[in-house]
Amino acid sequence: MSDLQDRMKEAVATAAVEQMRDGMVVGLGSGSTAALMIRALGQKLRQGEFTDIVGVTTSFQGEVLAAELGIPLMALNAVKRIDLAIDGADEVDPSFQLIKGGGACHVQEKLVACRADRFVVVVDATKLVERLNLDFLLPVEVLPGAWRQVSDELTALGSRVELRMAVRKAGPVVTDQGNLVLDAAFEGGIGDPATLEATINNIPGVLENGLFVNLADQVLVGEIEAGEPRVRNLTRR
Ligand code: 5RP
Repeated sequence: MSDLQDRMKEAVATAAVEQMRDGMVVGLGSGSTAALMIRALGQKLRQGEFTDIVGVTTSFQGEVLAAELGIPLMALNAVKRIDLAIDGADEVDPSFQLIKGGGACHVQEKLVACRADRFVVVVDATKLVERLNLDFLLPVEVLPGAWRQVSDELTALGSRVELRMAVRKAGPVVTDQGNLVLDAAFEGGIGDPATLEATINNIPGVLENGLFVNLADQVLVGEIEAGEPRVRNLTRR
């Protein structure tokens, strides 16, 4: 990641925390931008700017980080609602449809986004695309015993499929739920995210895919202008 991209992420993560208020239950996303947001929240709690915020994490990564920072947490099963969820994304299209799951956390991320009254997406400018899946592969979480079968089904739908392999561990990436991840590239990108999301989730053995359709209420974009980071509130097309 470049220094410029780091600065864009930092700016947008800080801006997102400004939307939190005391008394809120807040969904805490995963990935490097969400981690910066969690750090910014931890700092505000430490400094006493917030005194009453509870987080619901979307991954082991977020759980460990929030615990380190002393952010009070509740399990998803223990909350009736989430006021505001903030998370990153791998791709954002002009109508706010997303690909997520670069960190293999999209199962819990989608649960939290769906449960939230408001879902705010925080990205740097490199994540904005005209059409999904031309650059970033679509993550699909699958039961380990079904990865080959699901892979064949995804191929039949017109995609090239890879089993995501781990770094510094032999074999595949294993998710927080103990499953595997297939990454799919559809010829020409994804034209109808809503239909594809449902079609893939209907394949036996699929837990969830990384298409987040009609979930994002707001997209904040970190960008660099005249050498300085700034945050833009994106307008949906
Ligand atoms: C993890 C995700 C992340 O939000 C997504 O990969 C973006 O990550 P980053 O902020 O590091 O670019 O969906 O599953």
